[in-house]
Order: sequence, then structure tokens, then C-alpha cells
Amino acid sequence: MTIFGLKAMLRTAMTATVLGAAWPAAADDLHAKLEYCLTCHGTAGQGYRAYYTMPRLAGQQPKYIENQLRAFVERRRTNPIMANVAHGLSPSMFGALAEHFHALTPPPLGGAPRGQLGLGKHIFDEGLPESNVPACAACHGADAHGQDEIPRLAGQLHDYLTSKLANWTRERGQDRARPDISAIMVPTTHNLTHEQIAAVAAYVSTLK
Ligand code: HEC
Ligand code: HEC
Repeated sequence: MTIFGLKAMLRTAMTATVLGAAWPAAADDLHAKLEYCLTCHGTAGQGYRAYYTMPRLAGQQPKYIENQLRAFVERRRTNPIMANVAHGLSPSMFGALAEHFHALTPPPLGGAPRGQLGLGKHIFDEGLPESNVPACAACHGADAHGQDEIPRLAGQLHDYLTSKLANWTRERGQDRARPDISAIMVPTTHNLTHEQIAAVAAYVSTLK
């Protein structure tokens, strides 16, 4: 369902209430879940820093969001918080939730150190051939907006990105019997140094 589909559904639900009919359970449920997501991921999906760093979902590719929700449910991707959240969703909601977040356009949350942005841009645009690190732009797009199952990185919180790249093989592709698309990132995460990870994470976090 598109964001327009979602709005139309909520409008129909409101009209139904005005007419004295019951609020359709599906729209009610979806709206409640969205509110719940926003309490952690920021009121405009821009991400949020608390005890945990909550990633930005605004502008994220719908197919990527849906695939990650499935990955949390199937335990291909481990995270105790999101495992619980995803188990409480009906898979029929994944598409509507993903479209809703994709349509949000808040500015980047910011907060990254700015000292290594040049190195970060170099890695993103051209990679580090001498270390077998491909150009991130080749897959994530020159504007870092991603495509299909390849995530948007633009505006993502730098501390979230740093932690994901540093812990990749402990959190992603955890069902050894069912290798998934996360395998594509394994060599890259191993070949980047900590300093290079911090630089590229800081750079993409500034992009709109
Ligand atoms: C209690 C806080 C909390 C709530 C509520 C919550 N999330 Fe999350 N979410 C997180 C955290 C923390 C992460 C980061 C997990 C990690 O580090 O791997 C995350 C990660 C994600 C990711 C992966 C993002 C990425 O870039 O890979 C998606 C997709 C996601 N959440 C969707 C949702 C949706 C949809 C909802 C509402 C149904 C929701 N979340 C509700 C805390 C929350
Ligand atoms: C060959 C294609 C390809 C290249 C090159 C590539 N990526 Fe990725 N990247 C992917 C795919 C596919 C995913 C989704 C993996 C998944 O679903 O678990 C991903 C996921 C990620 C994530 C997780 C985002 C999130 O929200 O959790 C980060 C961070 C990332 N890539 C950073 C980079 C950086 C930095 C580079 C360059 C040094 C790079 N990638 C190069 C394909 C690529």
C-alpha cells in the first residue's frame, strides 16, 4: 500500500466514525503501530539518540525495510528490541509501514564529527582499491539513496552506521542455512579499518 493508500484508508475510517459506524480494526491497528514506531525512531522517522541509537527510517527504501522486518522475525538479523517489535506485527502491515517511512523527508539529525568528511567522501565515491574496498556509491547510489533491498545511507545516524559496520558478521546473516543478501557486505566490513568506518559513516550522515 502507498502512503496515499494509507491516508485514504484513515480517511475512510474517519468518515465511518462520523457516520457512527465502527472504526475498522485494520486501520486502527496500523495507526497504533506507526505511533509506536515513532516513539523510538523519532517523530518524523529522523532517528533518535537515547540509551540506544535508533536508526533513521525516513526516506528508507521500502523493500529494504520490509526485508529487515522479515530478517528480525526470522532471526537472520539479531537485535533484541526489534525482534520483539517485529514479532508483534502482522506481516501484512510491513508494506504499509515501509511506504509510510519512505515518504518522510526530515533533514538529517546531524551530530557527526566533521574532521574526516573528506576521507569519507573519497571512500564512498571511489572506494579503496588497495584494500579491496569497493566504492559504496556503486551499490548505494551516487546520492546514497539506495535502491530496492540496498539501503539508503543518506542522513543515517553516524553512530548507528559505525556500530552496524563494526558488528556486521555478529548481527546479520545469522541463519547459516539460509544465506541472505547481507553476505554482499561481509568483505567490505572486514577490509575497512575503524578509522575508515568512522569517516564514511560521518560523511553519509550529512547527505540529504
Ligand atoms: C523500543 C524502541 C523501538 C521501537 C518501538 C521500534 N524500533 Fe525499530 N529499531 C530500534 C532499534 C534500537 C533499532 C536498531 C537495531 C540495530 O542496531 O540493529 C531498530 C531498527 C529498525 C530497522 C532497521 C533499520 C536499518 O537501517 O537497518 C527497521 C526497518 C525498524 N527498526 C522498523 C521499525 C518499525 C516499522 C517499527 C514500528 C512497528 C519499529 N521499528 C519500532 C528500536 C525500536
Ligand atoms: C556490491 C554492493 C554493495 C557495495 C559496493 C556496498 N554495499 Fe553496503 N549494502 C549492500 C546491501 C545489499 C546491503 C543490505 C544488506 C542487508 O540486507 O543486510 C547493504 C547494507 C549496508 C549498511 C547497513 C545499513 C543499515 O541501515 O543498517 C551499511 C552501513 C552499508 N551497507 C555501508 C556501505 C559502505 C560504507 C560501503 C562502501 C565502503 C558499502 N556499503 C558498499 C550492498 C553494497
